[in-house]
Parts: sequence; C-alpha cells; structure tokens
Amino acid sequence: MHKKLTVDLGHRSYPIYIGGGLLARADVLTPHLPGQQLMVVTNETVAAAYLPILRETLASRALDVCLIPDGEQYKTLATYAQVIDQLMSSRHNRTTTLLALGGGVVGDITGFAAATYQRGVGFVQVPTTLLAQVDSSVGGKTGVNHPAGKNMLGAFYQPGCVLIDTDVLNSLPEREFSAGLAEVIKYGLIWDREFFSWLESNVQALRAKDQQALVLAIKKSCEIKAVVVAQDEREKGLRAILNFGHTFGHALEKLTDYTRYLHGEAVAIGMVMAADLSRRMGLLGEHDVERTKRLLHAAGLPVCVDQDMNAEDMLRTMGMDKKVVDGVLRLILIDAIGSARIVDQVDTEHLGETLCSSS
Ligand code: NAD
Ligand code: GLY
Repeated sequence: MHKKLTVDLGHRSYPIYIGGGLLARADVLTPHLPGQQLMVVTNETVAAAYLPILRETLASRALDVCLIPDGEQYKTLATYAQVIDQLMSSRHNRTTTLLALGGGVVGDITGFAAATYQRGVGFVQVPTTLLAQVDSSVGGKTGVNHPAGKNMLGAFYQPGCVLIDTDVLNSLPEREFSAGLAEVIKYGLIWDREFFSWLESNVQALRAKDQQALVLAIKKSCEIKAVVVAQDEREKGLRAILNFGHTFGHALEKLTDYTRYLHGEAVAIGMVMAADLSRRMGLLGEHDVERTKRLLHAAGLPVCVDQDMNAEDMLRTMGMDKKVVDGVLRLILIDAIGSARIVDQVDTEHLGETLCSSS
C-alpha cells in the first residue's frame, strides 16, 4: 500500500504519493491528467528504463514525448525553448498537461515550461532520482540556469501531483543515490533531530535500498518540505532554511563548471562548511559538527573540497547567489542538530576561516 501526503496550499493543494510500483498505477495517476493532451518530458536515460511502463499505464491516452538532453549543463534556456517549440509544433492548447519523468533537471525545466506556456498549463511530477523525490519535485520551484548563475531564471509553479515510485531507485547509480541522501540528511539537520538520529542508525539500510527504510526516509523528507512550503511558499522567510549548505554548494558547482560535483555532493560539502561556520560563530558544538561529517561520509558523500579551491573565488561566487539581499550575504546556520536559523550578518572573518580550512 502506498502513502499519501498533502502539500497544503489552499485551492492549489496537491498530493504526494509514495510507494513501490506506482508508475504502473493508472488509477492513481490518471485523475491528475484531466485534458485530452499530454506531453511527457524526459531524457534518453530515463526514457529507456521507464517510458515503456508509463506508456502501458497510460495506454488509453495519446502521448507526446519530448526528449531533452541529459545533464545539468543542459538546464538552459535553449532546452526550455526546445520543450516550448515542441508544444507549439504539436499544437498543445491551454488544457494540456506536462509530465516530468526524470530527475531534478527534467523536473525544473518542465515545471518552468508548464508555468510559462500559454501563461500556465497542467503539470505533474514523476521524480526518478532520490534527490528529486525528496526535494526538487515538491514545492514548486522551477527554472533553468544562466551562465552567470544557477537557477537564475524561473517561477514558483506548483504541480498538480507528485508521484514517487521508489522502485525506480533500483536503477539509479550509487553516486546519484548518495547525492539524494545529502538532501535527506539536510532535513534532519535543519528540522528534526530525531530523524537525524534515525538516519545515523539506518544509513546503511538506505544505501542497501531497504524498501521500508526508503519509504520512511522519503515520506519524512517530503513531510518536512511540505510543512515549510505550506508556511512560506515564496521564500519570504522560513523556506530559506531549505537552502542550508546550498549557498556554499552552488558556488562550488559554479566554480567547477557543474562538472566535478553532483548537486547533492556540493550541498554535502556546503553543509559541512555551514556547520563549521555555525561552530566558529559560537552557535554549534564541535560534537555536532563531527556527527554531521560522520553521517554524510557514511552516506557516501564528500565532506571537504579538493585542494585547488580558492577561498577568494568562493567568496566572490557566493556573492552572486540569489540569497544575497541588498548586498548582505544571508546564510542558513544551525544552532543544534534539528534547528536552523537565518543569519543576516555573517561574520566575514569566520566565513573566511571556514573557507580556508575546508580543503
Ligand atoms: P539529474 O536530474 O541530472 O539526474 C541525475 C542523473 O540520473 C541523470 O543522468 C539522469 O538521467 C539519471 N537518472 C534519473 N533517474 C534515474 C533512474 N531512476 N535510474 C537511472 N538513472 C536515472 O539530477 P538530480 O540530482 O535529480 O537533480 C539535480 C537538479 O535538481 C539540479 O539542477 C538542482 O538545481 C535541482 N534542484 C531543484 C530543486 C527545486 O526545489 N526545484 C531542489 C533541489 C535541486
Ligand atoms: N530546495 C530548496 C527549496 O525548495 O526551497
């Protein structure tokens, strides 16, 4: 039996379904595909493994498929335009639905296309990476990168439903799976100390894809994200805590041309940096920094950068982040495991020390 959660946003509320075998469940998916038209946006990698099941599930429907190139380097306006061009040339109208079948890259681009095509059409998320299942498919952040910065173009646009089939994680490369665990661990760090302890005890079961552990971790992550998004959909305040470690991580990704680290890996290093900075600013004890590093390491994630990282470049690049408000670098720190706080006045001396000591 699958689990069902709700992201509570008034008349835009939507369900998240979590469980094994959901891709084959027409009874769960089809009520969220109301119009005649449907376009599945995916890439070759995911299509090869899962498009046949989806075709079978939606056998009664005419299905357009838009194949976009695979990789963060293609999360661009050009790929977004490819989706829009295909919608135009296949004459999709305002009642169409876009179904994102893939990881966070497919989901973010598809959501942005859905938000903007004819001022907004139907949108369903079928995330196939752990990262997308616990984070990017929930909450309505959509968009693409610009050469000057990650996710610089986009829109808040909520899906009509999120369908999480945990079986698809069996084909996910181990490195990608670990990258998703970074975001799972993030929820423990910013919100739920007990969940963090549970992760310490169950990280190997998760890596072995134990079904019960997986469903619990995904459900807990989505629950936390849903609560935060319901309180602050457009990131006027609280939602910023979901970016714990991300300002550092985004800078690392950009400085290495999005090729060295997976997003979750960069976030893992960023969370260690944020924990270290929290300690230097007197908010967090050494023991909790060590627990953070230990769990991330046990999840198969990097906890420090390679030696060629330059603290000055990091600082400059962090200054480009969307979290810079009126020239002030705002960072998310933790004052205990399970408790995040937004800090507007980051001590630049301590920040410099953190960056210098992180390789
Ligand atoms: P990704 O989408 O690039 O997927 C990683 C790789 O796994 C790709 O090669 C993909 O084709 C492959 N893949 C996907 N599912 C698979 C499966 N079941 N089996 C085998 N291979 C599979 O990366 P990601 O980590 O899913 O997402 C990262 C992106 O998500 C970044 O662009 C990041 O900015 C974005 N993101 C967005 C949000 C948000 O709130 N919108 C939150 C976090 C991250
Ligand atoms: N991943 C951060 C957010 O959705 O706000």
